[in-house]
Amino acid sequence: MKDLSVNHLLGIKQLTENDIKLIFETADSFKKIINRPIKKVPTLRDITIANLFFENSTRTRLSFELAEKRLSADVVNFSAASSSVKKGESLIDTVNNILAMKVDMVVMRHPNPGAHLFLSKHIDAKIINAGDGTHEHPTQALLDCYSIREKLGSVSGKKVVIVGDIKHSRVALSNIYALQKLGAEVMVCGPATLIPKFIEELGVKVEHDLIKALKWCDVANMLRIQLERQDVNYFPTSREYVMQYGLTKEILEGLEKEIVVMHPGPINRGVEISSDVADSKQSIILNQVENGVAIRMAVIYLLASKIGRD
Ligand code: CP
Repeated sequence: MKDLSVNHLLGIKQLTENDIKLIFETADSFKKIINRPIKKVPTLRDITIANLFFENSTRTRLSFELAEKRLSADVVNFSAASSSVKKGESLIDTVNNILAMKVDMVVMRHPNPGAHLFLSKHIDAKIINAGDGTHEHPTQALLDCYSIREKLGSVSGKKVVIVGDIKHSRVALSNIYALQKLGAEVMVCGPATLIPKFIEELGVKVEHDLIKALKWCDVANMLRIQLERQDVNYFPTSREYVMQYGLTKEILEGLEKEIVVMHPGPINRGVEISSDVADSKQSIILNQVENGVAIRMAVIYLLASKIGRD
């Protein structure tokens, strides 16, 4: 059996191109299974997984839970808002208490970049990063690249622009790593204040003009403005942001070519993307959500197969 080169999924940075291809091949099999009338396999019947969410989530939390249940794992869910974290318990104590209940794998979303790396050095369970602050969101990037591969046949050689709040986006960083490992060209586009200063050192192009960026690309991945992570104003008003960076039907039709439109969600309709674009045939937003379950099944399955072997 082929194996991942890593024991945890902390970020895309640590994965090889072969790891990503193995996850995609495994997801192909799971995608067939979840489209059958009987969507469940008994593969992980002896495995217990804890989903620890220290930050809000809709898609990622539900997608992981569904992926785990489709694999017949036992699942426990934890949300920081209703836990003893509010009483001052540390991350390591919280997790160790959960592990004492014989948990094999931890899926965690945490506001602090590096929280997963820290945990991986202190606990025995397999760890999957479901988003750590502004750092990485590896399963989102995997499902995004998998959706491009499904739509366009491959990721290699494709031109992908990531538009919006690059500075505060874990989706952007994980996508940059994944797209480049798979041979795509990457551009970021947005106001100068929302593009990190040294991003060109990652080998990405930078463009501040949305129309020029869209004319260059095959795929546009639209990101929302992460107001919850912004301590100061990065642009004058929402209205001005929409005028310069909002993707509308009119803009798409003026391109004289058909591009693929993506969004990791949650969408702010009428801000980074208009409703008619989000719901258009060029949009693969709901395909991304569907593919998320197969990708997460693949990651969980491949990491679970290493339990007791390392
Ligand atoms: N894309 C994404 O991470 O969405 P949630 O925050 O709803 O999980």
